[in-house]
This record gives sequence, C-alpha cells and structure tokens, in this order.
Amino acid sequence: MKAPKISLQQGDCLQLLKHIDAESVDLIVADPPYNLGKDYGNNHDLLGFNEYLAFTESWLREAKRVLKPSGSIYVFMGVRFISYLYDAMDQKHGLFFNSWITWHYTQGMGRKIGFSPRHEDILFFTKTEDFEFNLDSIRIPQKYFRARNNMAGANPGDVWQFSHVHYSNPEREEHPTQKPEALIARIILASSNEKSVVLDPFSGSGTTLRVCQQLGRDCIGMELNPAYVEMTERRLAAQFEGYDSFDQRADRVPNDLPKTGMAEPGVTQLELS
Ligand SMILES: C[S@@+](CC[C@H](N)C(=O)[O-])C[C@H]1O[C@@H](n2cnc3c(N)ncnc32)[C@H](O)[C@@H]1O
Repeated sequence: MKAPKISLQQGDCLQLLKHIDAESVDLIVADPPYNLGKDYGNNHDLLGFNEYLAFTESWLREAKRVLKPSGSIYVFMGVRFISYLYDAMDQKHGLFFNSWITWHYTQGMGRKIGFSPRHEDILFFTKTEDFEFNLDSIRIPQKYFRARNNMAGANPGDVWQFSHVHYSNPEREEHPTQKPEALIARIILASSNEKSVVLDPFSGSGTTLRVCQQLGRDCIGMELNPAYVEMTERRLAAQFEGYDSFDQRADRVPNDLPKTGMAEPGVTQLELS
C-alpha cells in the first residue's frame, strides 16, 4: 500500500473549497452540522431555517465543482433537514441519486412522547452516471447457505447498524458527533480506490482522515474549530489498534450449512440477499 497524503486545513470550508481545483476529487464524505444546536466549541450549530438551506446550497455547489465526473458524494443528515438536502442534491444541483442509507443505532436518547430517534441518514449521489462502486470490497457474509447465493458474501444493503463510538470506548474523542470508523470505511472502500483523492469538508474529530490513512487513500480534511484540528493531528499520530466499531453481521457464519447440494468451488452463483 502506498503512503497516503493526508492534509488537514483549519477554516471555513466555504472559503477553503474555493482553493481546490475543479474536478480533482474522487469521493466526498460530508458530515455537516445538522442544525440541531450542537456545541462545536467555536461554532454553534443553529442557523435560521433559510440560512441553513443557503449554507447547504453553498457548500454543495463547491462540492459538485471539485468532484471529478466519475466522483461520488455521501452526505450525512438528521431527519429535520434530510428532505431539503435530497431536494438540493437532486433538483438544485442535478446530482445523480444512488442510495438513501439509514444508519440505525440501537441506543440513544429516550422520548416520553413520540418515538425515540434511532437513525440518521446518508445520501449517496454521483456526479454522472459513470462512476465506480467496489461491491466486492464491502460484502458481508451471507445469512443463510443456499446453493444459489453468492457465498463470497452479500451486499450489505442500505440499512447499516454500527454502534455509536460510546463514551466508554477508549477511542472516543471529545467531539459531540464523532462517527464510527467502520461505517466511514465502508463508504471509502465502496467508492474509492488506492489512487483516489477523498475530501471531507467537515472533518470534526478526523474520522475520515484516520480511515483514509489506514486504507491508503489521499485525503483532504477541513475543519472550522482549531481544537478539533489538533485532536485530529493527535489521532493521526497515534498507534492504530483497529477500528473503533464494526458491523456485527461481518462476524456471522452462514446458517443452514448444506448436507447435499454444495456448489462446486469456483462456480459463479447468483446473489440473492
Ligand atoms: C457533524 S461534525 C463532523 C464529525 C466528524 N464526521 C467526526 O467523525 O468527527 C461537523 C463538524 O463541522 C465543523 N464545521 C461547522 N461549520 C463548518 C464550516 N463552515 N467549515 C468547516 N467545518 C465546519 C464543526 O466544527 C464540526 O466539527
């Protein structure tokens, strides 16, 4: 694996993105503030409704400009603004829809009235219809053995279960919305390769940069808060002990192992699930 170039810039991505060459980035992983009032130290995540939509459209415009024609963009969002984000990517910026991924987590705040929120969403769009997707890099073991299944593994689908990086996890950073490394790794493995350039305009505690460092992808991170930039630098310099999270389905052993009807090794099988 080549040594990746990891660069981290402190500042407002609306300004920093203007210095990135047009059509120079293969993959954008964007986890912007969701406008829920989180405290990000030197910036408070609470704009007026129209102001937040204008902010979203501004950074998306730059993101589209810097993406290569073969590029992909994944954007995280909470439920309050997901429909507006979809509209902006689809209608206003003319990106191509691929997948609406739900990140489902099993723990979180409990509500007394209404249903306790247990997911955030990730919209996966591409700049054109000609893009790469490395399904073989992200397969998970099949749940059942069936002779017609592809026993190399199943497509993980569009509902992903990764636990939060819990406060008790030694890899938990002092950042309010740190994302799980294995979740980010799935995105990077699916939509980039070792020659790719990945961009994260809201890099926070540095999860995307850390994963790119491990997977050998060049990566550019941008972050407004200097304290999070320092946090990321420390994280990148630390010994890598493995991802702070994993998809539990990756550990499963296919059920219903057959007594008869085992497919011949090397025979291509249909994938069902
Ligand atoms: C949802 S968090 C990203 C978390 C990150 N994915 C992680 O795993 O740690 C959003 C981040 O965007 C930063 N931010 C807010 N506005 C920004 C801007 N205009 N330019 C760059 N960063 C910004 C915040 O300081 C915060 O760290």
